[in-house]
Amino acid sequence: MKGIVLAGGTGSRLFPLTKITNKHLLPIFDKPMIYYPIETLVEAGIRDLLIVTGGRNSGDFLRLLANGKEFGLKHINYTYQEGEGGIAEALALAEHFAEGSKICVILGDNIIEGSIAQAVRDFEHQDRGAKILLKKVHDAERFGVAEIQGDRIIGIEEKPTRPRSDYAVTGIYMYDETVFDKTKSLKPSARGELEITDVNNAYISEGTMTFNYLEGWWTDAGTFDSLLRAANLVHETRRRKDPTLAPVLSGADTE
Ligand code: DAU
Repeated sequence: MKGIVLAGGTGSRLFPLTKITNKHLLPIFDKPMIYYPIETLVEAGIRDLLIVTGGRNSGDFLRLLANGKEFGLKHINYTYQEGEGGIAEALALAEHFAEGSKICVILGDNIIEGSIAQAVRDFEHQDRGAKILLKKVHDAERFGVAEIQGDRIIGIEEKPTRPRSDYAVTGIYMYDETVFDKTKSLKPSARGELEITDVNNAYISEGTMTFNYLEGWWTDAGTFDSLLRAANLVHETRRRKDPTLAPVLSGADTE
């Protein structure tokens, strides 16, 4: 399976942090944000990667990641999204790279504790269609939210005011080659973007969408709160393995 990291867009929600650099190059504890989704794909055995970048600082991705030696890779592919027409628009740029094979797509601001290796293996054995990963959250209105009936997803709503479940659709998506026909028939949403939720709903209507629940913590890092939360989660997880790391705050700091 081939892997695609979507790191386009302007990161306007993080202004002025994103005034002179790309959101995905901001630090999450001791590494730039984009390292985490790349590591997630590589850990799942995916070695053929495309990074979709954008904005004014796209050259910095090449300087930072080069050919991916730090991740044990020999080569990384890059492409450029003009503007910020949405996640599905960024994905559509990967058609040439995919060349008809199955793909695993991850949003450049999604950071997870665990592994997606089992889900990737499951999808390799899935005949056709798509697979998404769900996570129970307490602020579902910030995300795409899945409505589940038995063992089926019957629909996804993007940032609903009244979510129909607590299950957020995480930014990790697996698709067969028909995804590019689906992106071609999309119309911009109310926020002016081609929505990945519309792509996923097309698979749901077709009856070919499956899902797994994601183990371990999951966060995006696209707002000030979630950027801080992501760093704290990474730090806490690291601290469990390395007790020499100091706690982020002790009681005395806030007195
Ligand atoms: O994090 C998971 C959520 O991501 C899902 O639950 C939602 O269904 C999905 O729409 C998305 O929601 P956001 O509104 O949080 O996405 P955002 O606009 O913050 O973009 C997330 C990443 O996608 C961003 O870090 C880079 C990539 N992206 C986004 C846009 C708008 C692009 O590559 N190009 C784009 O034009």
